[in-house]
Amino acid sequence: MQAVRIHRFGGPEVMAIEEIDRPTPSANEVLIKVFAASVNPVDAKMREGKYPVVTEKDLPYVLGRDVSGQIAAAGDDVSSFLIGDEVFAFLSPEHGGYEEFVLARADEVAAKPKSLDQVGAAAVPLAGITAWQGLFDHGGLRQGQHVLIHGGAGGVGHFAIQFAKAKGAWVATTVSASEKEFVSDLGADQVIDYKSEKFEDVIEPVDLVFDLIAGETQERGFNVVKPGGALISTLQEPDKARAAELSIRVGRYTAQPNGAQLREIAELIDQGKVKVVIASTFELNEAAEAQAALNERHIRGKVVLKVVN
Ligand SMILES: NC(=O)c1ccc[n+]([C@@H]2O[C@H](COP(=O)([O-])OP(=O)(O)OC[C@H]3O[C@@H](n4cnc5c(N)ncnc54)[C@H](OP(=O)(O)O)[C@@H]3O)[C@@H](O)[C@H]2O)c1
Repeated sequence: MQAVRIHRFGGPEVMAIEEIDRPTPSANEVLIKVFAASVNPVDAKMREGKYPVVTEKDLPYVLGRDVSGQIAAAGDDVSSFLIGDEVFAFLSPEHGGYEEFVLARADEVAAKPKSLDQVGAAAVPLAGITAWQGLFDHGGLRQGQHVLIHGGAGGVGHFAIQFAKAKGAWVATTVSASEKEFVSDLGADQVIDYKSEKFEDVIEPVDLVFDLIAGETQERGFNVVKPGGALISTLQEPDKARAAELSIRVGRYTAQPNGAQLREIAELIDQGKVKVVIASTFELNEAAEAQAALNERHIRGKVVLKVVN
């Protein structure tokens, strides 16, 4: 089968499409025939050797963290899926999604939303679960609360806006000017162009800041959290001393695969409460171009590799 692998860390040139053996599932795993795999910022960090979970000892390494496809084989202990079931999954880092067949733990996998095609489904798992865990597990966001989401037009942000609205929260978000209408259409109540406005000048204090940007955006975020509220980041540990002074909760987290949460997300999608937005699609042998497109930013939604046409 074909896979996009790296044998050393570096720039896009270290990715090569290669012929490798199709793996066999162990007792609690399934083998997924991959139809599409999404591209996430973490893929480039792994390729560059800047993601601590993947080190020299893991090379050669297949990139990619989430897929959609069909069950091709199942381990002896797997009773939740049948051969041919259409599924999607956020993979553990030991398995890469940029390949024709991938192993996944059965509890990381969920039935694909019926209302989505394979490309749409592949776009969901990592970004969707990151948004879900950030808002609800770490952020504790509840109905009626106010949340500020930084980077609302990107992969994680566009899901976060819609999940927060589906939960009954009030949502403000920061985006580039060109994305204001896009995020309003997704349901955002207040939209701030981060290049021409300072969010802290125009927003009322919120219960949660969901930080997808880090740096000075994160630092300024402290100014808009209500006492008792939270600032949660996907990228950078916020200053705990400052949080204690302000009586707010802070944290940085790494999203974890979770089949049960994927099922909840699939339900919201099939109920029409969450739209999946595809920025662009590429072929498997265009992984370098796909990562470059994501890196150039101004992404509206998700970049996806089509593994089967
Ligand atoms: N910890 C975890 O488990 C985890 C999981 C997923 C993602 N992440 C991280 O979370 C971040 C977001 O991921 P993603 O997949 O959503 O990335 P993405 O699709 O590349 O989206 C990033 C978005 O941020 C916007 N942006 C850039 N600078 C901004 C600023 N100063 N203020 C507001 N928006 C700004 C960009 O818009 P413009 O181009 O228009 O500026 C773009 O829409 C990435 O850094 C990723 O590595 C972490």
